[in-house]
Amino acid sequence: MALKPVNVGLLGLGTVGGGTINVLRRNAEEIARRAGRGIRVSKAVARDHHKLRSFSMEGIALIEDPFAIVNDPEIEIVCELIGGIDPAREIVLTAIRNGKHVVTANKALIALHGNEIFEAARRKGVIVAFEAAVAGGIPIIKAVREGLAGNRIQTVAGIINGTCNYILSEMREQGSDFRSALSSAQRLGYAEADAAIDVEGVDAAHKLTILASIAFGIPLQFDKVYREGITQISPVDIHYAEELGYRIKSLGIARNAPGGIELRVHPTLIPERHLIASVEGIMNAVLVIGDAIGPTLYYGAGAGAEPTASAVVADLVDVVRAMTADPENRVPHLAFQPHAISDISVKSMDDVETAYYLRLYAVDRPGVLANITAILGQQDISIEAIIQKEPDHGARHVPVIFLTQRIRERNMVEAISKIEALDAVDGKVFRIRVETLA
Ligand code: HSE
Repeated sequence: MALKPVNVGLLGLGTVGGGTINVLRRNAEEIARRAGRGIRVSKAVARDHHKLRSFSMEGIALIEDPFAIVNDPEIEIVCELIGGIDPAREIVLTAIRNGKHVVTANKALIALHGNEIFEAARRKGVIVAFEAAVAGGIPIIKAVREGLAGNRIQTVAGIINGTCNYILSEMREQGSDFRSALSSAQRLGYAEADAAIDVEGVDAAHKLTILASIAFGIPLQFDKVYREGITQISPVDIHYAEELGYRIKSLGIARNAPGGIELRVHPTLIPERHLIASVEGIMNAVLVIGDAIGPTLYYGAGAGAEPTASAVVADLVDVVRAMTADPENRVPHLAFQPHAISDISVKSMDDVETAYYLRLYAVDRPGVLANITAILGQQDISIEAIIQKEPDHGARHVPVIFLTQRIRERNMVEAISKIEALDAVDGKVFRIRVETLA
């Protein structure tokens, strides 16, 4: 006898909620063949009840109060797609307390409150699935948590914010300025409601927190991620980087390095021959390096209605398959058994080593470059390349670009402050970190 379909309560009928309803409907048969039962959204909560929607609400009861869904005995899985912390945290914890499984795309919630949520879920024996929280449709959680379980993972690095990647691509390909590229990302619905969350690197830091935890078996610790946004990147840097054979990408990087874990999100020059350099627009790509497998690369749409719904629905299928299994025999939420999570220290950014791109404006006269290179030398910084450009019309200072070899951040900070103090140097030294991702 065929089992009854599983009842899902859907919280949030925005871009991803609508995509989820459409995918569940369109692929209902395939999904049921995979899950062993049908999966149907029976109730949904939306902020705006009168909004015109791009999907049919047939068979779905529209409810006002999200707590009515998480307290409803007929609902077995709660799908949280409202985002943000408040009231999402309380809704998810109530669902767990009521013995319901949860599927969420909420990266902020998992990065900031995941430790508490997974502990509550463990006690109650329910699943909290969060594939859609990282890199949209790319099944990166599944890959790292299960597919690479035989590896000691060394590095996870990638383009995990589509909005930043879209902006940087538009600036390079179309010559757009930052503001107009951002407006276009907002119009296309990729950006968060508060776009500062994207362009200041917060969204990528949420995702990196989650990736680092499942890659290295460490607790979720968002507050330890070093973060720098893309708002200061100008078209000239994109252009100079290109001349040097590099592209500027906003990367999230987590590395299990000597002395601790590196957790950082910042604009980065990467060699244009690296596969990640050709990832453009809203697409995401994550490089995972394991000791057994070596480098692996995962590419796909990092945002958007159906790409993200693809991950949400995969989680729903996973939950339906695993909900009858003994909780002890399920894949642990954070890949490692809860008692085996270890609090390896996270490095301070001062101790992280990278190569650097420096751009400064200096008076064009004998001895100036020698003074600058002497300061770099005193800090043990080796120079890889120097380019001096023509001055802008009538300007007294010429742009000079340096590429350096790898050095500790602390040395570079010291060198930059000494260079900025030179009379012959005008204004600030602008620096972007360089990674070969080798
Ligand atoms: N604002 C996010 C991005 C959406 O641009 O990647 C997907 O998490």
